[in-house]
Amino acid sequence: MKKILVCNQKMFLTHDEALELKKKMDEIDFSNVDLIVCPSYLNFDVFKDYKLGAQNCFYENKGAYTGEISAYDLMLLNVRYCIVGHSERRNIDTNEAINLKVKALINNMMTPIICIGETKMDKDLRRESEVIKKQLYSAIDGVLNDEIIIAYEPSWAIGNGNNLTKQEIEDSIKYIRKLLDQKNITNYKLLYGGSVNKSNIENILTDVVDGYLIGNSSVDSKQLDYISKCIK
Ligand code: PGA
Repeated sequence: MKKILVCNQKMFLTHDEALELKKKMDEIDFSNVDLIVCPSYLNFDVFKDYKLGAQNCFYENKGAYTGEISAYDLMLLNVRYCIVGHSERRNIDTNEAINLKVKALINNMMTPIICIGETKMDKDLRRESEVIKKQLYSAIDGVLNDEIIIAYEPSWAIGNGNNLTKQEIEDSIKYIRKLLDQKNITNYKLLYGGSVNKSNIENILTDVVDGYLIGNSSVDSKQLDYISKCIK
């Protein structure tokens, strides 16, 4: 099974920059990874040759929700994946909203990419296990055996070069697998994300994960090329 590589482009690229990156990406051989590109809504058309994911969605299909974009509408645009619960949005989305989004995505035949992970304060207070369990179980409440992707991304490791050691990643991933087992959830893939780049990818390669979620490195074609070649 190929490893998954999710590219969370966040709000890094203007439309012109996205076009430039796409040109460079077209020269990269991604055949050894299962690549999912999550551009901004405005750049979906640029990356439509790839498997597309959104960075967020709303759980109602239609209605008076100014500024929102529904899972239903994304599905109609051929978007097959959607990130939910990213730490950069957890100050906006409650656990309850995240669960509603997960269910809306599943109802619309999409695969949620559910981000979970402790903050620096959780880590300092040694309550990371408890936090991860709460985030995970609330996000998947009511999910049966629908396909889901879980990305373990401690917020203190995102976007700052503070990535975890291989051992820390393996310990957390094993813990999350145990939590999923306890709920009899089997149809899932488990990723690691947080400051993955070409300088550290070799040190954190592990068969315990099904892939990686990258942010900053996903909009740099050289990083992307290097990382995708490493993770086969
Ligand atoms: P990063 O972002 O790779 O820049 O740390 C990962 C993420 O936020 O999903």
